[in-house]
Amino acid sequence: MADASPKPASRRQFLYQLGAIGGAGAVLAGLEVLGMPMASAQTAPPALTGSGTGKRVVILGAGVGGLTAAYELSRLGYDCRVIEARSFAGGRCQTARAGFSLTELGGEAQHCAFDDGQYINHGPWRIPFNHQSTLHYTKEFGVPLEVMVNDNDASYVMFEGGSGPLAGKPVRKAHVAADMRGHTAELLAKAVRGGQLDLPLSAEDREMFVSYLVREGYLSSKDLSYSGADGRGYDLWPGALTDPGPGKLSAPLPMADVLHSKAWRTLRSVAGFTQQRTMFQPVGGMDRIAAGFAAKVGHMIQYGTVVERIGQGDGGVEVAWVDAAGQRGTTKADYCVCTIPLSVLRHIDAALPDGMKQAMAEVAYQPVGKIGLQMKRRFWEEDHYIYGGHVYTDNADIGSISLPSWNWQGAKGTVLGYYQFDAAAIKVSAMTPAERMEFATAFGQRVFPQYRENVEAAFSVAWHRVQYSMGGWAEWDDEGRRTAYPALCEPAGRIYLAGEHLSYLTGWQAGAIESAWLQIAKLHRQASA
Ligand code: ALA
Repeated sequence: MADASPKPASRRQFLYQLGAIGGAGAVLAGLEVLGMPMASAQTAPPALTGSGTGKRVVILGAGVGGLTAAYELSRLGYDCRVIEARSFAGGRCQTARAGFSLTELGGEAQHCAFDDGQYINHGPWRIPFNHQSTLHYTKEFGVPLEVMVNDNDASYVMFEGGSGPLAGKPVRKAHVAADMRGHTAELLAKAVRGGQLDLPLSAEDREMFVSYLVREGYLSSKDLSYSGADGRGYDLWPGALTDPGPGKLSAPLPMADVLHSKAWRTLRSVAGFTQQRTMFQPVGGMDRIAAGFAAKVGHMIQYGTVVERIGQGDGGVEVAWVDAAGQRGTTKADYCVCTIPLSVLRHIDAALPDGMKQAMAEVAYQPVGKIGLQMKRRFWEEDHYIYGGHVYTDNADIGSISLPSWNWQGAKGTVLGYYQFDAAAIKVSAMTPAERMEFATAFGQRVFPQYRENVEAAFSVAWHRVQYSMGGWAEWDDEGRRTAYPALCEPAGRIYLAGEHLSYLTGWQAGAIESAWLQIAKLHRQASA
């Protein structure tokens, strides 16, 4: 991951430098990356008329973008051939379950040894309701969805870097949220009522504002004090017969304690546009989406075939490849849709203009690490009453721990033991699979006392070390978006690039799908002209 660019330090260069220095490096607080603020614009495939019959398209990469192109173009009559380096369809849309294997570059082979029925979505793992493009295909292919609990008030926030009595203790997110809200509302309401703030409000509006704060912050309307909120719970839970329940609200955490713990930093982590509370996942694993596509276009895919050269001339394109048996060959077509990640494509001999090649070098790929830990028992549900959601930490090497939103109350469950980015992902990826398992287990034990005794199998991925991906997803900085990105969106002769990297939804399947939709519409126009 070398960066030859002489430009001033940018996020891109920073990421490259991290890549170059490997396991060392700074630790970034990575929480806000969970709230990547990205919207999905296209909700349905382009309505294309006419026919592609008699025209050949070679599609490079059977990830979600390439599969989308193959599915839609073949429906128009195009003769599609997909060349895929891996032995399966889906690209990064993968699910690790028993029998799944992965060998990272320079790493040892991992063979997933989860029980039947257990899995981890180590690539894409959630679909926000506003990604209608992804949901278009789950509906089209009849892939059943279930809700993925993306925000759970009952889950814990565990911040070790703060100070005070809450530092290093798992605290329920509901407590942090209600108490920060309540204390803030109390301070503000009292200041407004006491005339301590120079507000651009009439006397009547000020009183309405105070009424709002009373309601918003669960304040006493008498003295504007905050003394807890029923949503955060009771010391004694309501029950039957002699259990009165709502007698005594649990006492709020003192404001200074919450402030010093810094746990409030987590409160906006699911507030991003793509992090809405209606979040879905396919029943049985994210790779059900890949399987849905493969059922339609699998016969067009040439697996285990690595692209070596992409050529083009006036008459068409020619892709040279080598297959798993070492046999070399070429595929000729009228057009090419290339969905190979730019992190990989920039190392392939391709007949693309210099401007495009330079543009490709302007994007960084996010280092990302995930680990699935199969647990003997669902102690987070049974002992802590946490059903799905994330445990937020301020430990960048862990990021967050996520609890499965499927197989509720089942015998076992598979937890996402860490989810890290940037330097932390690089650092942890230098560990062996066994060391990663131990690292994740040791941290989880600090949150849940039942953790270690229940871990029975692990499967980890470091996407920046995965051949044919070389990163979790593309990261454009503002300058790259302005100077480089536009050149890649335009076709180069007969070659069209697509993939999440050519979207404002990088790191989401919706980006791959929507870029493919827009590019095939252009291709069809060119082919029909
Ligand atoms: N799409 C990625 C996620 O859901 C970034 O975490």
